Amino acid sequence: MRPDPSDALDHAAATHAGRVADALRAAIAAAGGALWFDDYMELVLYAPGLGYYSAGARKFGADGDFVTAPEISPLFGRALARQVAEALALAGGDTVLELGPGSGALAAALIPELDALGASPARVLLLEPSPELRERQRARLAPCADLTRIEWLDRLPDTPLAGVIVANEVLDALPCERFVVHDGALHELAVVVQGDGFALEERAARSATRSAVRSLEVELGARFAEGFAHERRARLAPLVATLSRTLARGLLLFIDYGLGQRELYSPTRARGTFLAHHRHRAFDDALFRPGLCDLTAWVDFTAVADAAIGEGLALAGYTTQAHLLLGCGLETLLGEPLAGPGPPAVAEARRSRDAQRLTLPDEMGERFKAIGFVRGIDATLLGFALRDLAHRL
Ligand SMILES: C[S@@+](CC[C@H](N)C(=O)[O-])C[C@H]1O[C@@H](n2cnc3c(N)ncnc32)[C@H](O)[C@@H]1O
Repeated sequence: MRPDPSDALDHAAATHAGRVADALRAAIAAAGGALWFDDYMELVLYAPGLGYYSAGARKFGADGDFVTAPEISPLFGRALARQVAEALALAGGDTVLELGPGSGALAAALIPELDALGASPARVLLLEPSPELRERQRARLAPCADLTRIEWLDRLPDTPLAGVIVANEVLDALPCERFVVHDGALHELAVVVQGDGFALEERAARSATRSAVRSLEVELGARFAEGFAHERRARLAPLVATLSRTLARGLLLFIDYGLGQRELYSPTRARGTFLAHHRHRAFDDALFRPGLCDLTAWVDFTAVADAAIGEGLALAGYTTQAHLLLGCGLETLLGEPLAGPGPPAVAEARRSRDAQRLTLPDEMGERFKAIGFVRGIDATLLGFALRDLAHRL
């Protein structure tokens, strides 16, 4: 799909786009004329006051650029609450930490449900560097949660915690390097200035990217073919390792779209998985309206597992989002009587449509995976009891 060229920017968005473009030109000049793709992504997503996630764009939900599972329905967070409650009990934990809470939709479903289950954590930590998103989260949570129990962090706590760390659709938003094999050599994409705009240019890959891609080929037992283009994330393993060290006891849970290494880097995905999202359109033009689009790529769950296990965590399971939610009792939630305004039949139909979006294989059910790691827990967890895909890592 292409971005919609007829979809014009209002004055504020156009002014913001101009500021991002100025910052980008300055960064490209400071980098000697070309900015590596991961540095480009870092700037246009996260530069304070400018980046997609650190400035005021609407982003999430029906009137934003994309919809995440917790935005689709509170069923997601309510089902997940059962997994969180189980892990808190097994670990004797008292803390829930959510990384990248976005609009606050997951916490807004999770916290009241934990209270209803009699599993209220003593502390809820929300790691959110963006001041604008913090405000949105506070407003979203005020009607449904005791804010005195919630602490906003801009970095991970120094003291390891006992409880659950959860991140939904955070890893796919980490900056990635983009590589391509051309004339038998490894190249990387960089962003350069071209006229009034920007262009992607292939440059000889950095040595760190070359050795990481070489290790990947060794792991997979084959060289990537001529023209093979893909992504990797140098930032992924350090983040997962740091999160793992932050967990003294309990569960570390990631939900995101992605695959194990063998499937992710298979010849059938020789064009990579990078996508930009803007106003509910997904396209591969990374340079369309820098700072106003979400940029993503699929997650390498093998790399996630290697990093967490390397820090002494045990794999609790790797499964589809559908099986995670069903294992956590989604069907029981669907059987509950519905309260609230409006005809019950309409609410019922809406709830069942939302559950289908979360679980059907051609919606979010299969593409999204859940991977969990534990420390100090030795039991099969609810969310990973129905289907185990660990052999695909
Ligand atoms: C696609 S949004 C998902 C938001 C939310 N979790 C949801 O499911 O609706 C990605 C989020 O990850 C956050 N993020 C990216 N890198 C992060 C990091 N290193 N630490 C914490 N949050 C991060 C972004 O700021 C953004 O809020």
